[in-house]
Amino acid sequence: MTSIPHDTPGEPDPLRALGLERLRRRTSMKWRTYPEDVLPLWVAEMDVPLAEPVVRAVTDALALGDTGYPAGTAYAEALAAFAAARWNWHGITPERTAVVPDVMLGVVEMLRLVTGPGDPVIVNPPVYPPFFQFVTHMDRRVVEAPLGPGLRLDPGVLEDTFRETTARGGRAAYLLCSPHNPTGTVHTLDELTTVAALAERYGVRVVADEIHAPLVTPGVPFVPYLSVAGAERAFALMSASKGWNLAGLKAALALAGPEAAADLARLPEEVSHGPSHLGVIAHTAALRDATGWLDALLAGLRANRTLLAGLLADRLPGIRPHSAEATFLAWLDCRALGLGDDPARAFLDRGRVALSSGLPFGTGGAGHARLNLATSPEVLTEAVRRMAAALA
Ligand SMILES: Cc1ncc(COP(=O)(O)O)c(C=O)c1O
Repeated sequence: MTSIPHDTPGEPDPLRALGLERLRRRTSMKWRTYPEDVLPLWVAEMDVPLAEPVVRAVTDALALGDTGYPAGTAYAEALAAFAAARWNWHGITPERTAVVPDVMLGVVEMLRLVTGPGDPVIVNPPVYPPFFQFVTHMDRRVVEAPLGPGLRLDPGVLEDTFRETTARGGRAAYLLCSPHNPTGTVHTLDELTTVAALAERYGVRVVADEIHAPLVTPGVPFVPYLSVAGAERAFALMSASKGWNLAGLKAALALAGPEAAADLARLPEEVSHGPSHLGVIAHTAALRDATGWLDALLAGLRANRTLLAGLLADRLPGIRPHSAEATFLAWLDCRALGLGDDPARAFLDRGRVALSSGLPFGTGGAGHARLNLATSPEVLTEAVRRMAAALA
């Protein structure tokens, strides 16, 4: 794969680059699920052009006909360098990684390594709805340990759930979302150390979904779960998919802690058949060469979050956005609006703006909606205008 260093300081905000006319030509889920008169701010796709190094790496591969099967450790090496530079974490060794098709299928494969059919998988609702769907589909049992005060991890609830699910000596896993979708919460070192201690005490295997890690607000420390003392038996999933808008270019990395290496070695070879070679090339280029683009995106997202707070305070003071330190998602408490359990339905039907319904996020989702901030300030402003119109 050709290496084209490209890390231009002071890149323009990618959220301001594309107009609606251009975006509506996209054929992905965000743009094709609802009719043309609906403004889509729901599924986690971003309204950005791709980072130039990513485009160049993929077009170079296409020009070369380099469209075979993936090989090598370039993706893991790029992630290791990114983790060292970004989080001062030097714990990624390519030998303890595996390329998987995407984060959710990686989660499934890690859970398969350490649980059997019918075993419990603990999640912290409100949480990313596919956590419920994928776990159920693989014949495991979802057990809720809801977030606590401030929508943060609740050690008491976690301990009770770990104790109950392992009481009869069975196997249990904990699917941690870090940073958390939909709240954008970044778990602290203290919180994660407590999680690791509890997991060790009760023999619960932890699988940390860290797909949103590149999207932490600058200045806020992100703590990779595998860097925490006591997390040696855990797994993590990382990917450039959310940070650089590459969901359609399938690839992700599974990482094993030192004491989970033997488990990862049992990963069936056929799993490596899923990731796309072009996906691996794109993700590698993003992590290695497009950190300037990411910084510009993060600045734009921060500005959008401030804009959203102001717009809501002005026009929809009944909505309280949860204050977030990561992701491009805003979790909106709409319970004071009197729109019932599914406010997103009213915004769609009456305002022609699509947010994600809070209901599939599990306990704590009723009366809430999730808004995708990864768009231009103009679209965001129009979205809030439409939400307010839905109430008029
Ligand atoms: C927490 C979380 N995990 C996984 C995914 C999906 O990742 P992938 O497309 O790599 O399976 C998303 C997408 O939004 C997500 O928010």
